[in-house]
Amino acid sequence: MTNRPVDPEQPPVSGLHHSAYRCRDAEETRVFYEDTLGFPMKMALHNHVHPTTGEPDVFMHLFFDIGSHVGGKANYIAFFDVPDHPGDDPKELYKTRWGLDLHFAMGLADHEALHAWKDRLERLEIEVEGPIDHGMFSSIYFHDPNGYRLEFSAANAAQSEVFEQHVRDAHENMKKWNAWKVNRHVKVAVGQE
Ligand SMILES: [Fe+2]
Repeated sequence: MTNRPVDPEQPPVSGLHHSAYRCRDAEETRVFYEDTLGFPMKMALHNHVHPTTGEPDVFMHLFFDIGSHVGGKANYIAFFDVPDHPGDDPKELYKTRWGLDLHFAMGLADHEALHAWKDRLERLEIEVEGPIDHGMFSSIYFHDPNGYRLEFSAANAAQSEVFEQHVRDAHENMKKWNAWKVNRHVKVAVGQE
């Protein structure tokens, strides 16, 4: 199977608008994203009411522009500082994330930008992993002060061709994965006998 046909009734979606996360401290997060990385803060809303329940709730909501300030399309990474939220466990909320748990990837124009970012981050004494060549694109990885893993990615020359090849197998691969997942403990038990 190749690409699933687009439902003509589907209202159009234009891609990422923003992705939002909790932060330990709004100012610490602002310093990192705006002063260190250089993403302009576009909004800082001091709220007193929960937006969906209408209950009293004090929080700061931040938006940083991760694209349009250098010619990309407007999209944002956003944060909530909710200092008195009941039941929070800061150790769990802000633990250093493994990439397979959570990471946030930003696209770069090219490999030159990828290497320039690596140099820039290391000059700022931020630990950087990579570049790692994933075949279709290459990436570097680092962490923000909240423990979130961030990624910068630059497309390799073959990115669109590689995605086109993978889409042919995507649904078949999912069928095999689903079957493997259901049966994986059964197979282990037989092997141990
Ligand atoms: Fe990624």
